[in-house]
Amino acid sequence: MLLETHRDEIEAILSRYHSPRSAVLPLLYLAQDTYGYLTETAIREVAAILNMPPTDVFEVVGFYTLFYKRPVGTWVLQVCDDVPCCYLGAEELIAALKQRLGIVEEQTTGDGMFTLQRVKCLAACDRAPVLQANLDYVYDVTPERVNALLANLRARAAEARQRGVSGRFAEDFEWGPDGALIRIDRAAPYRPRQFPAAPPSAPPEPEPVPEADAGHDQLADRKGSPL
Ligand code: FES
Repeated sequence: MLLETHRDEIEAILSRYHSPRSAVLPLLYLAQDTYGYLTETAIREVAAILNMPPTDVFEVVGFYTLFYKRPVGTWVLQVCDDVPCCYLGAEELIAALKQRLGIVEEQTTGDGMFTLQRVKCLAACDRAPVLQANLDYVYDVTPERVNALLANLRARAAEARQRGVSGRFAEDFEWGPDGALIRIDRAAPYRPRQFPAAPPSAPPEPEPVPEADAGHDQLADRKGSPL
């Protein structure tokens, strides 16, 4: 079914890779976007398209937290609870989400809107605590911002705009001065980091190496015996 309904997109994906098996991640994303999560049948479909052993594809799915093997909500909230985020309030954030949503980790709200999960480092530790809503990153999420965050996500779900269950439409968000969530423009030009300290000057010239003596015992070089 995947091949029948997405033949053009699958062929376009495969054409980007020298080896078909290199396309396993984008094809799994495509399957997940199609079915909502990855059933055993869906994983076997991907394996068949790529002519891979199904076991290899199951291993890939098991490795990544962004592949879902059972139904999830419209928004999967993955909260980083690794060390830097914990120092900056990840546990308090998770507690606030559980309280607001009335669920615990790995559960989905009754309206099917939110699934809550814990994950390890999302590689955005400088903006901790960090939360990933599907593939959208939201930085600096404090418990006080949970209500605004959930309202934003509900509103975006109501707009029915394309959302990245699998990251194909992922966006970044941060908090504006008025407490509203605003999208960060990823098209912003890359700005290299500025280092305030001057680079170290050139290393000093090495000391001249004394010429090796000829190995002869010179009388003038002998020291008196301390005894
Ligand atoms: S520890 Fe949370 S993003 Fe790295």
